[in-house]
Amino acid sequence: MKNVYSNIYSFNKKTLKKSVNSLKLGNIVSLPTETVYGLGGNAYSKTAIKKIYKIKKRPKSNPLIIHYYSFKEASNDVLLNKNFFKLYKKFCPGPITFILKKKKSSKIVSSASATLNTIAIRFPKHRVVRTILKSLNFPIAMPSANLSSGLSPVNPLDVYDEFKKKVKIIIDGGQSKIGIESTVVDLSGKPKILRPGIISPNQINKTVKIILPKRNLKIKSPGMLKRHYSPGLPVVLNQKPSNDKHAYIIFGKISDNRVNYFNLSKNADLKEAAANLYKVMRKIKKKGYKKIFVSRIPNIGPGIAINDRLRRASK
Ligand code: TXA
Ligand code: MG
Repeated sequence: MKNVYSNIYSFNKKTLKKSVNSLKLGNIVSLPTETVYGLGGNAYSKTAIKKIYKIKKRPKSNPLIIHYYSFKEASNDVLLNKNFFKLYKKFCPGPITFILKKKKSSKIVSSASATLNTIAIRFPKHRVVRTILKSLNFPIAMPSANLSSGLSPVNPLDVYDEFKKKVKIIIDGGQSKIGIESTVVDLSGKPKILRPGIISPNQINKTVKIILPKRNLKIKSPGMLKRHYSPGLPVVLNQKPSNDKHAYIIFGKISDNRVNYFNLSKNADLKEAAANLYKVMRKIKKKGYKKIFVSRIPNIGPGIAINDRLRRASK
């Protein structure tokens, strides 16, 4: 992308080197992943971790996900178990994060995991971040590249919107294909899901038995705020479209189509709807609407993750 945003770079040999050098110096870089864009820093560097919390205005109690190229590098920092290997084989690299016990010898900066004795690890699939991880001899701590409690960015311009020039390097890896954050599975004890994602509880349960939540997922992740994934406007759930003043997020075929209707997926495809969720919410905000109404989204498969994010956005 050749553009007016002097801190957004397309990915090539030169910008690979630039990103790697910047990370080695303890600076932070915004990188694309298949889920959402992240704000990455050296997970073994105190200064890098400090910078991440500061720029995101993130509460110190909310730990970060550590990104690795493969399980081999991760084995330096966490205790890998049987359940981990089953899920790793099936879903990695990909949109899933594992909570595992931290090794005593781990070099992860303790503030990155909010001084817990567990660490969240992930193996992202996106070509850009994988190439960068392969070139480093340390893992990348990387939260979503947004101000704390806001919407995760799904393209480089969203990251720019959040931080302007405060982030010196934003690598353009196109639109994030999945569009919502990874599924978080706690494997440090009895397996359970802490954050639903595109890989659904049922899919995971086929490989590793998990405690399946009967209804809505309760907040379990440390430091996770009740209000999260917020577009900065009131969000009202389970509404039928009626008046013209507010924005309506709808799903599936609908006979009349108005300018204030924003369809997540005309084909009623929940995967497509997840990929469009943050994009649509940012668009609505930019258009100046003051309130968002959302119609009912089926609570199955990726719909579970969509409803989780919408519920938190509406708090
Ligand atoms: O898709 C993703 O996971 C993206 C991309 C950039 O990789 N990252 C992301 O990071 O969503 P973040 O920081 O926005 O969300 C991390 C989540 C939080 O809910 C946090 O509470 C949880 O992971 N988490 C991190 N460490 C944990 C731990 N030790 N135990 C339980 N939850 C943890
Ligand atoms: Mg986040």
